[in-house]
Amino acid sequence: MYVDSPALALLDRALVRVLPAVPKPVVRRISSRYIAGTTLADACRVVAGLNAEGKLATVDVLGEEIANPDEAATITQAYLDALEAIERNGLDANVSVKLTGLGLELDVDLARRNLSTVVEAAGARGNFVRIDMEDSTTVGDTLALYRELRLAGRDNVGVVLQSRLHRTIDDVRALADLEPSVRLCKGIYLEPASVAHTDYEEIRAAFVRALDELLRSGAYVAIATHDTFLLEHAKRLLREHGRTPDRYEFQMLLGVRPDLGDALVRDGHRLRIYVPFGTHWYEYSLRRLQENPKIAGYVAADTFGRFLPGRSR
Ligand code: FDA
Repeated sequence: MYVDSPALALLDRALVRVLPAVPKPVVRRISSRYIAGTTLADACRVVAGLNAEGKLATVDVLGEEIANPDEAATITQAYLDALEAIERNGLDANVSVKLTGLGLELDVDLARRNLSTVVEAAGARGNFVRIDMEDSTTVGDTLALYRELRLAGRDNVGVVLQSRLHRTIDDVRALADLEPSVRLCKGIYLEPASVAHTDYEEIRAAFVRALDELLRSGAYVAIATHDTFLLEHAKRLLREHGRTPDRYEFQMLLGVRPDLGDALVRDGHRLRIYVPFGTHWYEYSLRRLQENPKIAGYVAADTFGRFLPGRSR
């Protein structure tokens, strides 16, 4: 059981800083709800369960710290396998890719080729590819590669914008001519004040502004947040802009606030869950745990719970 208290809140903040020192097996156990498993079969099983609950999915192959072109090729192939499995199993899911996983930091041409391969394969199966957005140094290349694909006639591809970044409102305007499909999120990467809002309320306000602008520009929007304040503003803006449920979707992460997702589905909104799988689970897990406001409770329950009599694991 988790008990809210000022002391625990302090402990939560302290733990976020030392999380990288927490033993990997503990991180693995307490982050398991954020990850479908290590195999494609695990991802398909989780997606089938979500589909049965009326939720869509986007499948993410974990693996961003690649060191050579062979590793990028392995991830590219894993996406081709995922697209094949989605079709074979009749799942309602698309895929999300990280350009660093496809080789962006090794060579932009390598990432371009691997991205084209995945987008082409998805297109051949009537499926869609979302390009995740990574830290601010990758935004220029990511948006340029997205534009190239769209100008080459590939319509089954979308991008992500992060409200945290100062440049985002300009990016919304610059993308408008493409009638893009944009996932809007706050942005997970901590960025310096020179390029990003650093205040929580400013990031929220920038999210509302960017969403308003995206809706005005005619973009298809995927609203990716578990923040109830933003969910309420989003619903208001969708009403004001007269958006029908086929012209937007909400998105959430596997294992985060499923209660909020269930409520959206009950109210007739489209909801897509981000489903990561793979053997490179550590970095993603750390990011999710660092965002969990109740991290201390999880670490304590894992560490001390195992020593309590009668606890089954
Ligand atoms: P916030 O972090 O304030 O969370 C709101 C509430 O949700 C919290 O108070 C808590 O109750 C709950 N919550 C949030 N995280 C939790 C956790 N890990 N465990 C338990 N509870 C938690 N970022 C990026 O930079 N590039 C990208 O491509 C993407 N892609 C993406 C896809 C999808 C589908 C989602 C939902 C998010 C992303 N993100 C992302 C991450 C995003 O930028 C952001 O870091 C997280 O969504 C958390 O921000 P919230 O808006 O949920 O607010």
